[in-house]
Parts: sequence; C-alpha cells; structure tokens
Amino acid sequence: MTGSIAAYKTATLVRLLVKAGAEVQVLMTPEATGFITPLTLSTLSRRPALHALEEEGSWNNHVALGRWADIMLIAPASANTLAKMAAGLCDNLLLAVYLSAACPVMIAPAMDEDMWHHPATARNVRLLREAGHLLLPVEAGELASGLVGEGRMSEPEHITGQLENYFKEAGALKGKTALVTAGPTYEPIDPVRFIGNHSSGKMGIAIADELAARGAAVELVLGPSGETPGAGVRVTRVKTAAEMWEACLRLFRGADITVMAAAVADYRPAAPADKKIKKEAGPLQLSLEKTGDILRELGSLKRARQFLVGFALETDDEEIHALKKLKEKNLDLIVLNSLRDAGAGFTHDTNKVTLFTADGQKRALPLKTKQEVAADVVRVIEEALAGH
Ligand code: CTP
Repeated sequence: MTGSIAAYKTATLVRLLVKAGAEVQVLMTPEATGFITPLTLSTLSRRPALHALEEEGSWNNHVALGRWADIMLIAPASANTLAKMAAGLCDNLLLAVYLSAACPVMIAPAMDEDMWHHPATARNVRLLREAGHLLLPVEAGELASGLVGEGRMSEPEHITGQLENYFKEAGALKGKTALVTAGPTYEPIDPVRFIGNHSSGKMGIAIADELAARGAAVELVLGPSGETPGAGVRVTRVKTAAEMWEACLRLFRGADITVMAAAVADYRPAAPADKKIKKEAGPLQLSLEKTGDILRELGSLKRARQFLVGFALETDDEEIHALKKLKEKNLDLIVLNSLRDAGAGFTHDTNKVTLFTADGQKRALPLKTKQEVAADVVRVIEEALAGH
C-alpha cells in the first residue's frame, strides 16, 4: 500500500483476500501509514503489517519477502510509487521488496485525474507494462479532490476478481512442456556475409512468454534476434536453419505444444566460402540449396497427444496457401499473417492474423499488439488441449 486516500479501501481488500483463503503479508510505504493504521491491517491480515526496512532493531528481509509471495499486488499505487518503480528507486521497504520480487506484480493505480493523464505518469505506466507487470485499469468517479474523473483505484471486489482470473489462467498449462521457435536464421555466404531476413523474433518471444505465464515449461529456440524473453523461458540460441533443425528435433519429442514462429531460410548457399569472397569484375553467382523444412519434419513425427502450430506469411491467395500448409504439414493450427495488412508482420509491434484449426475453425483477429495476439493463440491452444 502506498500513500493515497484509496488506502482506506485496503481494509476491505485484505478482508476479502483472507476470506478467499489467501495468506496476506501487508507492506506499506511510510506515507500509507498516515491514511490507515498498521494495527487495522495487522489485525485483518493476521500478520504484522510492515512499513520500515528496520523495525525495533531488526531488519525486515526484503529478499525473503520477495521470494515468499506468489504475487505482489501494489494497491493503491500512487503516482510517486509508480515513478519510483519505473526508475528502479529503492528508498523504502515496499520498493526493496518490489525490486527483489521473483513473482508476478499486479498494480492498481490511484491518483487524481490530472496526475493520471500527465505524460510522465503515462510513460511510467508504459515502462511498467513493458516490464511484464499487470496493470489494472483505474475507475472513473468522484475523486478525493472533489473533482469527478478517472483515477480511482479499482474496487476491492474487482481486484480480487482479477487475482482469481490471474491464478486460474496462470495454472492452465501447468505440467505441459512447450517448444517455440522465433527470429530469423542467417545462412553464411562467407565468414562475413549471410542471407537473412527481417524477422525480429518478437512474435515468437511473446508466445513463449505467454505459454510460460500460463504455467508451461518453455524451451525457446531463438535465431539471431536482439530481443530476449522473460525469465521463465529457457533459450537455445542458434544461427542457421541447420542448427535450428537440430535443436528442434532434439526438443520436439518431449514437447506437448510446439509453435514454429521462426522465419527459417528456405535456401542456403550450397558451398559457403571459408575465406571472404573478394570482389571481381563481373557478376557473382551464388548457388543455393534447400534447407530442411523443420515444420514438415515435426508434422511427420507428431504423435497423437502433441499439438503443432505453424505460421504462414503470405502475400497472395493467403487463405488457400495457409490451409494447404495446415494439411500438408499435419498441423493442428496455423497462424496466417498477410503482408498486405498495414501494421502486420516482421518489425512491427503489432500484428493482424487469422487462425485456422485442423477441425475447420477460422478466426480473423483485428490488429493487436504481438502480446495480445500471443494471448489469443495460446487461448486457442488451451481450448484445443482441453477438448483433446
Ligand atoms: N518453416 C520451417 N522450416 C523451414 C521453413 C519454414 O520450419 N525450412 C516453418 C516456419 O517456422 C513457419 C512455416 O514453416 O511456421 C511456414 O513458413 P513459410 O515460409 O510461410 O512457408 P513455406 O512452407 O516455407 O512455404 P513458402 O515459402 O513456399 O510459402
């Protein structure tokens, strides 16, 4: 809890959580104690409400607290605490625990409307979202200043509802293992040059993160990409299509879910030079040979309990080509990207896709962030696995 008038509602929030069976450890910023007493919250949570790094000569172990929790909820989160979290400041117990927390973080902001809409707050909220935190929406209504507008903390009943949903979703893929590929491949021409493509790896990484967030053990085979997945994903770095083939064949056997989002080169130089090719008069001919189609190979090896997802990037007759790949490569789901859609495809943060399942369903999604697309794809996988 931080210093905001909405702190008075946390008494109800703690009561609801304890009633629902949660173990609650209250942490307050020093400012929060001016709005509601630690005694009230200690009584409701049945544990001392902590608000100082050091109390009565002993040190509150912030690392242990950050590792103990299944989730850290910051409610109400004032503009000041949001800014400190975004900047990584650490001048009180709550922030020290936040910086050491190994668990997901959910944030319920509360402040006056003008503070909420200030560009500095908007920037901090964006940074915290990018850090993977779950930001609950503020609600509109009467504010402590007497003004009416946006900025009220989400009601305690809404917060507990979000926590329940979170834990339901977080556990949906517990016990499942997943293999995901992402990024481009680089096929060497000589020691300094390669044939590659513009894939950023963002879509596949978003899917790997989403699968991990829902409890799956995720192995990511990642081509040359500047992006990195969250802490819950194991990464095998590869460069070429041949290396990706090898890693995927090794990991596929143990995978319940496989999502091939990488943009794998279809051809590679047949005889890469071992020394740098010098320029000469006249044109240079490169002879290319085919790489192995990893997805097709995995489709042919697939056993009944395994779920295989492919991507298709098409520029024309999109649906016909996607359905053909779905069938020929023995997939359960194909995600179609059309390069004709603005904001979709390689380097963007957004994507517009259509999903086709082997049982004949089609879902055309609007333009969304890659994280939202990942959540939709994983939801379809979950539904299909539940029906298996
Ligand atoms: N893929 C693969 N191995 C390859 C090439 C592609 O596993 N050597 C996978 C991609 O990860 C993607 C899917 O195949 O999931 C579709 O890739 P795409 O390039 O759209 O299709 P291709 O099958 O290569 O056919 P084409 O290039 O003719 O469209």
